[in-house]
Amino acid sequence: MTWQIVLLGPPGAGKGTHAKILSDRYRIPHISTGDILRSQIQQETSLGKHAKSFIDNGKLVPDELVVEMMKTRLQDPDVRHGFILDGFPRTVEQARALDEILSIKKMPLSLVLEFDTSEDVIVDRLSGRWSCSNCGANYHVRNIPPAKEGICDRCGQPLVQRKDDEPETVRERLRVYRDQTAPLIEFYEKRKLLRVVSGDLDVGPLQEELAQSMKCL
Ligand code: AP5
Repeated sequence: MTWQIVLLGPPGAGKGTHAKILSDRYRIPHISTGDILRSQIQQETSLGKHAKSFIDNGKLVPDELVVEMMKTRLQDPDVRHGFILDGFPRTVEQARALDEILSIKKMPLSLVLEFDTSEDVIVDRLSGRWSCSNCGANYHVRNIPPAKEGICDRCGQPLVQRKDDEPETVRERLRVYRDQTAPLIEFYEKRKLLRVVSGDLDVGPLQEELAQSMKCL
């Protein structure tokens, strides 16, 4: 049996942090649309050039571009062991496209985990987030600090703050989440795929809750 899991939640909810831990623990790939798009921007591909202004302004990259990108990624060989999707789908249109891709692959979704996280916690997490400019590892200045300030524990490269973590852009990302992504909660509730976890919890207790939710699989 393979696991096809979606992590759903607002910016800063902890999706990326927990997806990496779950991916290591269960040995299934973590697929983050945000990470793929940032890498396209860094490589200055045509997708990256197109996506940059949307990301910098806290808007969603158009559905057709993201769906095409994910169609390609979901053909990679590692996906036959299942996957954890982080940041996709983000609109009802993307969710329908995902259904189509997975029905062709005969790999239906197993579970959607919604991170229920309060706005105060989100603002605190995003204002304190530092990410590795090289490997993408995530830290928090207070909650999850690196051993050496400003340097990645994993690869020794400098840590940077994301441009879209500036307060005004975070407010826009939250607005976009409420308008375009939150409707997916009902979409997946109706399909009986949704489990809600307490996104405000610290990393350890939240991992426990996630493991409990995954026991039903
Ligand atoms: P993306 O990179 O997906 O950003 P996001 O969904 O807004 O989520 P974040 O990465 O900000 O937060 P997270 O929930 O992963 O939290 P994290 O674990 O880092 O997307 C960026 C942009 O790309 C979008 O705005 C859009 O433009 C575009 N895009 C991406 N996907 C798209 C799509 N499908 N369609 C269209 N456009 C798309 O945690 C945050 C901080 O908190 C970290 O510092 C972490 O160390 C800390 N932390 C995490 N968990 C805990 C905890 N439990 N306790 C204490 N601290 C914690």
